[in-house]
Amino acid sequence: MEKVITIERHILEQQKQHPSATGVLTSILYDIALAGKVIARETTRAALADILGLTGRFNVQGEEVAKLDQYANAAIVRLNQYTGRLAVMASEEIAEIIPIPDEFPTGRYVLVFDPLDGSSNIDYSVSIGTIFSILRRKSPDGTRGTLEDCLQPGREIVAAGYILYGPSTMMIYSAGHGVHGFTLDQTVGEFLLTHPNIRIPAKPKYYSVNQGYERYWAPEIQAYTRELQARDLSLRYIGSLVADFHRNLLSGGIFYYPADTRDPKTPHGKLRLLYEAAPLAFLAEQAGGAASDGTQPILDIQPTKLHQRTPLFIGNRELVELAEGFIRHERP
Ligand code: AHG
Ligand code: MN
Ligand code: MN
Repeated sequence: MEKVITIERHILEQQKQHPSATGVLTSILYDIALAGKVIARETTRAALADILGLTGRFNVQGEEVAKLDQYANAAIVRLNQYTGRLAVMASEEIAEIIPIPDEFPTGRYVLVFDPLDGSSNIDYSVSIGTIFSILRRKSPDGTRGTLEDCLQPGREIVAAGYILYGPSTMMIYSAGHGVHGFTLDQTVGEFLLTHPNIRIPAKPKYYSVNQGYERYWAPEIQAYTRELQARDLSLRYIGSLVADFHRNLLSGGIFYYPADTRDPKTPHGKLRLLYEAAPLAFLAEQAGGAASDGTQPILDIQPTKLHQRTPLFIGNRELVELAEGFIRHERP
């Protein structure tokens, strides 16, 4: 009979491979899993908000009830700020770093997250997600964490992952020993191991890109897309990075969001290096794939700003390298 392994037990087993581990990282991952369950509960009833008055106006305490992405942001901050495990946090939803309030102790780790990814899909009951990375602080222990603690290249990531709110709620994470996937059993409220040691299949099936913007791309990106079509890859684009990445992780493929000339925000791409590209790049490499900005591995980029954007090519290594070749004007 198959063993039933909860995420808590799995994280603890992984920790045993490191005799020096203190268990703090394990606890942070478990805190994130808990935040994921709370957010999952809220996303499943999002469409009831108007008729049940769950969001939009004021709750019984007279507080304004937050939109789902603000709710998700607040849930993650609330469940992590008091634990004494973190030095500082940063969120896609918040302009500056999120300091640990003075009344709480600080810890050795840094949590960087996109609380709700794919927010344009929220109103349509389409899959959305939460993405996170955990890093070690650079600033001295016992002090409040700093911006520099957050501005670290992806190579410094200790653990990263995402929670996908789809037909099932799933949590996928890596602490540097492969990528593991868990599915939330709603009846017992536990994430159970369903996808151990995920590896991107060698033969890709899909390419994922917003082809509606093709006319704003550089000619080499258009040519790359023709090449993917010539290879008979099927197009799938959900518009939630987490969901698009998840499908390609399990079935093989490439997701890309190139730089474009569409609006002043996107000459360097749309996606955020810290909250989206770097954590998923960590997972991609752990699963045998790759991630690039077109010229260099995403994980090698030294961020200079919290909300820095980057072009992103992520998935099967061969297809990521092919994109880099097209960008260097080398055709296969
Ligand atoms: P977010 O909802 O966190 O702002 O991120 C949205 C991102 C990402 O999830 C998705 O891949 C991309 O935006 C879709 O953008 P387009 O609508 O431009 O295709
Ligand atoms: Mn996002
Ligand atoms: Mn977001």
